[in-house]
Amino acid sequence: MNEMVKVFVVYDTKYGNTKLVAETIVEGMREVEGIETAISDVEEVDLERVADYDAILIGSPNHWGGPVRGIKKLIDKLGKLDLKAKWIAVFDTYIKGDFEKAVKKMEKRINEKVPRLKLIIPGLSIKVGDMKGPIVDGELPKCREFGKKIANKLKT
Ligand SMILES: Cc1cc2nc3c(=O)[nH]c(=O)nc-3n(C[C@H](O)[C@H](O)[C@H](O)COP(=O)(O)O)c2cc1C
Repeated sequence: MNEMVKVFVVYDTKYGNTKLVAETIVEGMREVEGIETAISDVEEVDLERVADYDAILIGSPNHWGGPVRGIKKLIDKLGKLDLKAKWIAVFDTYIKGDFEKAVKKMEKRINEKVPRLKLIIPGLSIKVGDMKGPIVDGELPKCREFGKKIANKLKT
């Protein structure tokens, strides 16, 4: 039997939208056989556990044009760990005009601080209607597809 591929999803959220994005990505990944998932808020994450996973997904709301502080710190900490993971992907939520801005900054920081992690696919940027949400119509299915695409890539 093929071995399971283990994916750990870490997110930060102020109003719950990025959490919902993370959960929907997990749903998409679970549509693919042979994928084991774990999910955690960055404030509660057990980094020793993360270090034992094959791939890491990181999600942040866009605050002031970039990822939140907790997520930047997480990336910096990953750079100091002895990670089993070789693969990473990121996602963000934003309101208007800032499509992919936090995603690009997270990818750049990962490239600088944890260069051994390779991007599975380019990051996903999800639009919310206002500060507190909700997620704009038509955006959630993209999260599920993103998860499924990542899972299929990791299985090949
Ligand atoms: C302090 C703060 C700063 C923000 N700055 C931006 C910004 O520069 N660009 C943007 O698109 N959204 C900005 N937003 C909106 C957030 O992106 C939005 O609240 C977030 O996507 C909601 O996700 P959450 O429910 O997971 O917190 C900001 C929100 C907060 C609270």
